[in-house]
Amino acid sequence: MLVLPDFPWNALASARERAEAHPEGIVDLSVGSPVDPTPAVVRRALEATTDAHGYPTTQGAKQVREAIVDWYARNRGVSTLDVSSVIPTVGSKEFVGLLPTFLGLGPGDVVVHPAVAYPTYDIGARVVGATPFPSDNPDEWPANTKLVWLNSPGNPNGRVDSVEVLAKAVARARELGAVIVNDECYASLTWDVDSAPSILDPRVTGGTHEGVLAAYSLSKQSNLAGYRAAFVAGDRTLIAGILETRKHLGLITPLPIQAAMIAALRDDEHVKAQREVYRRRREILRPAVEDAGFRIDDSVAGLYLWATRDEPAFDSVNHLAELGILVAPGSFYGESGANHVRIALTATDERIQAAARRLA
Ligand SMILES: Cc1ncc(COP(=O)(O)O)c(C=O)c1O
Repeated sequence: MLVLPDFPWNALASARERAEAHPEGIVDLSVGSPVDPTPAVVRRALEATTDAHGYPTTQGAKQVREAIVDWYARNRGVSTLDVSSVIPTVGSKEFVGLLPTFLGLGPGDVVVHPAVAYPTYDIGARVVGATPFPSDNPDEWPANTKLVWLNSPGNPNGRVDSVEVLAKAVARARELGAVIVNDECYASLTWDVDSAPSILDPRVTGGTHEGVLAAYSLSKQSNLAGYRAAFVAGDRTLIAGILETRKHLGLITPLPIQAAMIAALRDDEHVKAQREVYRRRREILRPAVEDAGFRIDDSVAGLYLWATRDEPAFDSVNHLAELGILVAPGSFYGESGANHVRIALTATDERIQAAARRLA
């Protein structure tokens, strides 16, 4: 049996119990799972595609790849993709966990990921016996680095990397001969910055996608977490390699989900509307958290407030659990998160208002 670290959220059980005991119920801000309905335009597309008697292609139908290419040009400032440089994936989490496997990495190889990070980058490296290396500083990435994960806008801290920061990371990865991927699933949710540049932006790549991939997910922008709808784009040689491996392994995006993805990718209106919903929730929650004595760091984009009272994370978690509010300790995301908590904006308006009242 593969031995992996304990699943972090298991450690939240007693705080959850305490929060659930609150007379007005728990406000669960510990996970980033969307609570608003999947847009009607997407559900209709799914309903219209229930006859899926044959196997879909691993590469994805041409129409879904065209929709991905058009979406990058319209929304991410990337006009240099074509249908052979993109591929749908079953969720981003699955892709993140399996990319080191697809790349054939193993013992002796290093996988760099952000200093505070979504835990799956580390797990994907461990699965193949490679060494995870948490670091935001390209100058310290070791010579045996084979894969670099960036995550801008970031989970848990909501940090956004500028074009210059991304370009420096890409240059260093190329110098090392490593593949570099930016996990961009929060790109539609920017608050205190104009935009979050894609790693495929020509100002970052210098005009060639060599060694560079962007991962994107429709889970957050389109309330599609239950559909497992995501994709990867960039270097067509890497995409072709991933495709060949997946032809053997499966992990094929189901055809009805491909139809739903096309509908979601073609409709920018629901994304704008959802973003306004989160903006409103953030405007209620952020001052309430600050007034309760927390400092909020980074958090200029994405679905979380990265908050601290300069005390161990579980002290803050337990304090908030007494108020019936469940949050995630920053320690789940690496040692540098030891004194922070991650507070998600993914709760209904009613629950967000309840949290603000309790914090006051
Ligand atoms: C940074 C990051 N990457 C990937 C994912 C997974 O997204 P998906 O729902 O597509 O698996 C998440 C979900 O929370 C995330 O925060």
